[in-house]
Amino acid sequence: MIQCWRLDDRRQTLVLGSQRDHLAEVIYWGPKLPDDEDLSTLFSVHAIDVTGGMLDLNPELSVSPEATRTFPGQPGLIVRATDGTQLLTKFCLERAEAGPGTLQLVFWDEQNGLTYTARFAINAQTHVIEAQSSLEAREPVHLHWMSAPVIPAPQLSDEMIDFAGRWCGEFQLNRTAWSPGMRFRENRTGRTGHEHFPGLIIPCRGATNTQGQAYAFHYGWSGGHKMIAEELPDGRRQIQFGNAEHMEVAPRTRFETAPLYITFSDDGLNGCAVAFQRHLRDEIVHMPDAGRARPVHFNCWEAVYFDHNLPALKSIASRAAELGAERFVLDDGWFGRRDDDTRALSDWEVDPRKYPDGLDPLIEHVHSIGMTFGIWFEPEMINPDSNIHRAHPDWALGGEDQILGRNQKALNMALPEVQDFLFDRIATLLRDHTIEYIKWDHNRVLPMPDAAQTRGSYALIDRLRGEFPHVEIESCASGGGRIDFGILKRTHRIWLSDSNDALERLKMQHNASLFLPAAVTGSHVGPRQCHTSGRVLDMHFRAWVAAQRHMGIEMNPHELTDEEAAVLQRVIGWWKQNRDWMMKADILRLESADPAIVAEQQMATDHSRFVAFVGKAATSSQIAPRPLRLTRLDPDARYRITLINRDSASGLSRGTLTLKSESVDLSGTYLMNHGLTLPWSFPETMWVIEGLRQ
Ligand code: DGJ
Repeated sequence: MIQCWRLDDRRQTLVLGSQRDHLAEVIYWGPKLPDDEDLSTLFSVHAIDVTGGMLDLNPELSVSPEATRTFPGQPGLIVRATDGTQLLTKFCLERAEAGPGTLQLVFWDEQNGLTYTARFAINAQTHVIEAQSSLEAREPVHLHWMSAPVIPAPQLSDEMIDFAGRWCGEFQLNRTAWSPGMRFRENRTGRTGHEHFPGLIIPCRGATNTQGQAYAFHYGWSGGHKMIAEELPDGRRQIQFGNAEHMEVAPRTRFETAPLYITFSDDGLNGCAVAFQRHLRDEIVHMPDAGRARPVHFNCWEAVYFDHNLPALKSIASRAAELGAERFVLDDGWFGRRDDDTRALSDWEVDPRKYPDGLDPLIEHVHSIGMTFGIWFEPEMINPDSNIHRAHPDWALGGEDQILGRNQKALNMALPEVQDFLFDRIATLLRDHTIEYIKWDHNRVLPMPDAAQTRGSYALIDRLRGEFPHVEIESCASGGGRIDFGILKRTHRIWLSDSNDALERLKMQHNASLFLPAAVTGSHVGPRQCHTSGRVLDMHFRAWVAAQRHMGIEMNPHELTDEEAAVLQRVIGWWKQNRDWMMKADILRLESADPAIVAEQQMATDHSRFVAFVGKAATSSQIAPRPLRLTRLDPDARYRITLINRDSASGLSRGTLTLKSESVDLSGTYLMNHGLTLPWSFPETMWVIEGLRQ
């Protein structure tokens, strides 16, 4: 007997089918099928043919491919009994539960006493499908590997795009050609990591940012993941995502993967990006007060580092407020004897040498000048040189002879006493002071991966969120080392990178927007000479790059010249006027005819307006700017186009372009097919263009 199920939204359909009660297979995923499509017929025609050198029937590429069904590729599940025997599963359908937009398929393996469940939920608004696997066992078993429901990859695709990175260089795109065999990526560092953001995009042939078909995947887990993109000998392709292998140290009777978020787009990579941006913003992140405007941040890290001094910090805060900052974040250095990064992590008590009257004088000052107050913690970490390590050396994770990272060890977050200790210390500070924000850091990889560690971190954050629901949390890990939908379920902002270099940020933000909306992506105006790259960048460029996302300042504001301060104030003022719609806008990556240009268009949800940020990341090879095509406009509508920073045009722009002196009304058709011709500009500058639908 054949049984089939379908999940639909307005633009896509996912069809699963099972025959003879075997594990189900995804037999179709793509543009929405007609409502009356006969699914049994689809099932019978989806099978590929058999020729010489093949088995007499092709093994199923199921939601969890099984070796016992002669599947020739990577299996979806590897599990062992406690005596080490491998349990070769052969699941049979026990029941299917389908609701509006949801499907749960439960399979039973009598011989091994295992139940495997695949769950799917489609979100009609965001177009994201969540898929998750779980395993239950009669007796405790060892889990080596479990994939979230396995999804076949499209055949009309020549390459896949995934993400690499490093400290100060997050979200670098890798393009890898499909070929027989597999692309295997695994992050065994115990955190999401700079190196392997858990995302994958599979463009179909010819797809660009703005057109064509694309499939995208994100695994929402902060403990390190494994990805397999495999082309089988018969040409079929499978995508697997799950926790990194062997992450479960102890035998258990229940395991589950994190949710795998997937989406299909028939309008380019932007279709996937907008789906993830909206899903994250509207379904994953829970802002304490969703109606409140995102405040402009001031973070003191690059202003003072560990050198905390109350009068200096007050004066910096006052200057930051004059510039337009609305939230002051006190970074590392306020606790224990934390004079540098060699000591005091875990000693979460205010340093009386730096703050003889506690934090209140600073907090009160910050409040008196109209800003709210945030504070830095790195809860999962401990320095060997700390009072807590001296008292509880057994709380540290890993052996005594382990390699330290930034002079620190991780705490064993699976220990209830560690969780209680951290909860008490953080809660005490939050109860005793008016603090509305935590920057939550995580600056080293783990000595070994262990899923219990991630579960422990999640439990601690959840408990704090339960008691302090008004406190916002920023996820930071040496910049962008812990960015994923799992951490963002319980936090509200990410620190994309420790690089405040606007040129690096421009590119990173561009790529990160494939998954992240502006509302959660922190971006700060750094010092004139960037502390991590040494580059000197003009204030206009630094300010506009920060204004593309959740804007902030991170420098000593006393270094600013009057002119720099005036520019920064103006851009912050512009950002505040526009943030309400921009923080909900769709970020659309534009195709640029000039590789020196990194450009995006932020489109209001009601399509009444947009802003395009056109960054010049390098010197162009041709002499004059090439027109830049916009996207997703109404072809018949007219848009009033204004180059809002036209007074930044250099003297070397000698032409008489209309945009340099006035606004122009242009049709969507013209803007999307010819594009805007902008004035000549220096590298490391940004044009900002507003469009208002007339
Ligand atoms: C690493 C973070 O990414 C920085 O922003 C800063 O908070 C430092 N840690 C503090 O130690």
